[in-house]
Amino acid sequence: MTTPRESRLSASTGRRVRHLMAISGESIERLRGIVRLASRIEPGDVLSGKTVATVFFEDSTRTKTTFVLAAQNLGARTVDLSTGASSVNKGETMIDTAATLAAMGVDAIVVRARQAGVPGLLARHVPSLAVINAGDGRHAHPTQALGDALTIAQAFDRDDVDLSGLRIAIVGDINASRVARSNIALLTGLGASVVCCGPTTLVSPSLRSLGVDVTHSMDEALDGVNIVMMLRIQFERYASGRGAISSEREYREMFGMTEERSRQLGPGVVVMHPGPTNRGLEIDPAAADGLVPGGARSLIRTQVTNGVRTRMAVLLDCLNPN
Ligand code: ASP
Ligand code: CP
Repeated sequence: MTTPRESRLSASTGRRVRHLMAISGESIERLRGIVRLASRIEPGDVLSGKTVATVFFEDSTRTKTTFVLAAQNLGARTVDLSTGASSVNKGETMIDTAATLAAMGVDAIVVRARQAGVPGLLARHVPSLAVINAGDGRHAHPTQALGDALTIAQAFDRDDVDLSGLRIAIVGDINASRVARSNIALLTGLGASVVCCGPTTLVSPSLRSLGVDVTHSMDEALDGVNIVMMLRIQFERYASGRGAISSEREYREMFGMTEERSRQLGPGVVVMHPGPTNRGLEIDPAAADGLVPGGARSLIRTQVTNGVRTRMAVLLDCLNPN
């Protein structure tokens, strides 16, 4: 898939815009720069006069809302066009939808789609828009990974966003997870070592080609880790739905962040989860809330909070690239 990475002139403002499609293939300097900017960015009016549209063809609580807050924090106007309310339901194509928004003077669109590659397609066909990928199928969720890198850098006092020496376990449905794919690319690019863990049906050995370790044993995955990132099983992406795993009880016992595992890890280890969580399945409620006595620290709410500043930095990077 080719994605336009160079900045383009915006039709409405004549200024340069650029896109954010994925972590893979993007320069580590740009990505580290976004995380560093996110760590210090303050609200202001630097994007006043700009209009940001959220265009979500899949459900979202965190990503869409944090993008709206981020745009408003920087003085931009926001408009929302989501599934069930747009003329895509009347047969209009996504490309026509994006071109229509551009014709109204929209400067950036934040897109989430069920099919991988939709943000890249829109960026190629409507070059005046800054296109930001808010999650496309199983492919990429770059702003989630950037926010997670910020949360890790803060937790381990890495102001320079160099994550060398940190070991991260990513646990769950890695095969179907765009969060895993983007985090693997970013965290290894920033110097961390990553181990992926889950059942053989959800974690393929071929993931090793991404530069990570693969195991199907939680004991092995959690050995010597600093960070454990738990992921939801992407039931909606399987024809069998909840049948993607044979037993929820067995899954929790083998791969869940149970209270017992949280206690064994201790407070020096942090637990993360991009959300939404399926409490009692991949993570016990007390472990998610950081309420296990002597247990691992939970950064799940911090990830959400950092989502706002990360998306402020991304909007600035894409709309004011110079
Ligand atoms: N919210 C994240 C995503 O949209 C993770 C998830 O849904 O499990 O990819
Ligand atoms: N983490 C994440 O992308 O959450 P939403 O699906 O709620 O946006």
